[in-house]
Amino acid sequence: MEKSTGKKNTAVFISGRGSNLKSLIKYSKTKKSLIKIVLVISDKSSAKGLEYANKSKINNIFIKYNNRRSFEKCLLKLLKKNNVDLICLAGFMKIISSSFIKKFYKPILNIHPSLLPKYKGLNTHSRVLENKDKYSGATVHIVNDKLDSGKIILQKKVKVLKSDNYKSLEKKILKIEHKIYPRAIIRLLTNY
Ligand code: GRF
Repeated sequence: MEKSTGKKNTAVFISGRGSNLKSLIKYSKTKKSLIKIVLVISDKSSAKGLEYANKSKINNIFIKYNNRRSFEKCLLKLLKKNNVDLICLAGFMKIISSSFIKKFYKPILNIHPSLLPKYKGLNTHSRVLENKDKYSGATVHIVNDKLDSGKIILQKKVKVLKSDNYKSLEKKILKIEHKIYPRAIIRLLTNY
């Protein structure tokens, strides 16, 4: 059981690389951080992000996804046990049910690599490039029962250059993701 430190006990859900997790861990270690990451959960045992959590000595758990019901039941149990106040989805590739959102009853944030409401769902960068958009970006939003549609907390734009390809655009956008996720948390928790 986690003790109360005045910081919000936070769980980060991942499925892969975990670069946003890394930035959240970095933020959580700063003096002024408003969160303490008490739990990292992955639905993939191979998720690289689990290694960061290990290195940072953060309790991390792989939960095998057999079906949504049993997966979410297990999640809710863990969240309760660890007194989690806030969930940050960071490259978590499973869709969370409205029943889970209701039962958890506390904020769930997600980071999405586009300027929502544009390009909900997958393959955002390819769609931006195909459509020759002049701008793309990243958005942190509250998770509700519709995919990538909850209240926007923070959004940042980047210019898409003619010379950009998938890789360069992804890199540019990830860089801003790492900046805005901690800022969005501060905004959410302080109403700033
Ligand atoms: C990020 O682009 C995030 O916006 C999206 O999935 C990707 C996860 O990357 N939801 P990482 O695992 O945090 O490196």
